[in-house]
Amino acid sequence: MATSRIDEVNRRRATALAGGGAARTERQHAEGKLSARERIDLLLDEGTFEELDKFVRHRCSDFGMDEQVIDGDGFITGYGCIHNRLVYVFAQDFTVFGGSLSEANARKICKIMDLALENGAPVIGLNDSGGARIQEGVMSLGGYADIFLRNTLSSGVVPQISAILGPCAGGAVYSPAITDFTFMVDRTSYMFVTGPDVIRTVTLEEVSKEELGGATTHNSKSGVAHFMAADDADCLRQVRRLFNYIPQNNRDNPPRRVTRDRADREDARLDTIIPDQSNLPYNIKDIILKVVDDAEFFEVHEHFAKNIVIGFAHLDGRAVGIVANQPAHLAGCLDINSSVKGARFVRFCDAFNIPIVTFEDVPGFLPGTDQEFGGIIRHGAKLLYAYAEATVPKITVITRKAYGGAYCVMGSKHIRTDINFAYPTAEIAVMGAEGAVNIVYRREISQAADPETRRKEKIAEFQDRFASPFVAAERGFIDDIIEPRQTRPKLIKALKMLENKVSTMPRKKHGNIPL
Ligand code: HXC
Repeated sequence: MATSRIDEVNRRRATALAGGGAARTERQHAEGKLSARERIDLLLDEGTFEELDKFVRHRCSDFGMDEQVIDGDGFITGYGCIHNRLVYVFAQDFTVFGGSLSEANARKICKIMDLALENGAPVIGLNDSGGARIQEGVMSLGGYADIFLRNTLSSGVVPQISAILGPCAGGAVYSPAITDFTFMVDRTSYMFVTGPDVIRTVTLEEVSKEELGGATTHNSKSGVAHFMAADDADCLRQVRRLFNYIPQNNRDNPPRRVTRDRADREDARLDTIIPDQSNLPYNIKDIILKVVDDAEFFEVHEHFAKNIVIGFAHLDGRAVGIVANQPAHLAGCLDINSSVKGARFVRFCDAFNIPIVTFEDVPGFLPGTDQEFGGIIRHGAKLLYAYAEATVPKITVITRKAYGGAYCVMGSKHIRTDINFAYPTAEIAVMGAEGAVNIVYRREISQAADPETRRKEKIAEFQDRFASPFVAAERGFIDDIIEPRQTRPKLIKALKMLENKVSTMPRKKHGNIPL
């Protein structure tokens, strides 16, 4: 082979590797960010990255662009491994035209997304971009739309993960929004549809970039992001950790892992977590951590809608998705945000064959005009719909309160939950004893010689009869009443029993979840 040709290949390879050059990479480092290639190296198993389309160039000649051509055009795309499993990855290189999206590099992304769909492997996007390449106009917008289409077609077929490691603004945010999980880095990443300047012009509001669309905002206020990282390296470590729990695609099962945590391990400390008085709070995570393998719980959406806790764990090596009401926050009530948070997670687990374990302690839906005007009816219905639709193995443990509509929603037997356990402390009723007595015995109490004593008697009577697991267990709505210490072995046996579960849906194009 002619050495001149090899030299040419090497020269062009070197320009691709250099990206926007040392000075711009230095600026990236000075801002606390890694370069696109450094990020890929940290994300993937060492030495596994195979790059595609390194020689792709843009074809824009407007605005002097024909004089600024860099091989690869600023996006790095290819495939490699995480924990020895195939993944596809793209990384936007901010040092080349601000990581902006061109017609050419959009095609690079589409190529790996098509490969991912055909080969059944996850796609990870490392985002750090000034958005549409301004010089290319509608060609760039078309590139975004081509990606959005693929995000949508891949949804529920292969896991899609977005890490936001710099700017992500305008319509560009809608690709991460369609993906399954979004990670953001504290203080160096931001997402918004319209930035602070436009907001100032239109609504006269003054807001900083960080406050408007930083990692804290999207992790705690908007719920757009699911994970928050301290820096790029932490973010990429967290993405790798997620792969301990998720399968390659919707036909695959999540990876099993070996654990030394015994399947028959009981934990007497569980018997003392739930307070005797049913209106006192406790932290549901204390229960989760004592039940799952090696006390390892990978919480999702940790900072958002804290009245529901969601996340991944293993039980005897099997990955499970956990959904749990949190009595330590808003008494564990369901509200708009917690319903949406729970629903999206349940749907992810169902799409990707991850069994769902629910810990239930919910006094009901949160009352208030804010909630009603905000559409708690339609948002609460999302959670109900997601649970009812899910065909993966479902197991529910009622730890304490299961009241009203929330009883039905949170993985009740009636919406196809396979195994329903209740602790002896469970209270399963239409409403709390006081509220119920005030309605049902209002006349009798007001006419009594001593109304207060009569009220107390009636409350005690009601509590005895209904604020217990027995009525539900007598009907078979609860399969077994278990002691808290037995939770882990009981869950593991049930999961094993459900391992070959087949449950189907009526034929349809798709349902109409109340969006
Ligand atoms: C072309 C771009 C670019 C873009 C940045 N650059 N964004 N080139 N198209 N969209 C270039 C800059 O000209 C500069 O080149 C280099 O990238 C670094 O940018 P700086 O501005 O120096 O960086 P910084 O100060 O960190 O600011 C980053 C930024 C800013 C906030 C992202 O660059 C910015 O506001 N860019 C424009 C953002 C934007 O409006 N994009 C279009 C949004 S609309 P030199 O050569 O000087 O280093 C959109 C629609 C998507 O994206 C629609 C999908 C449906």
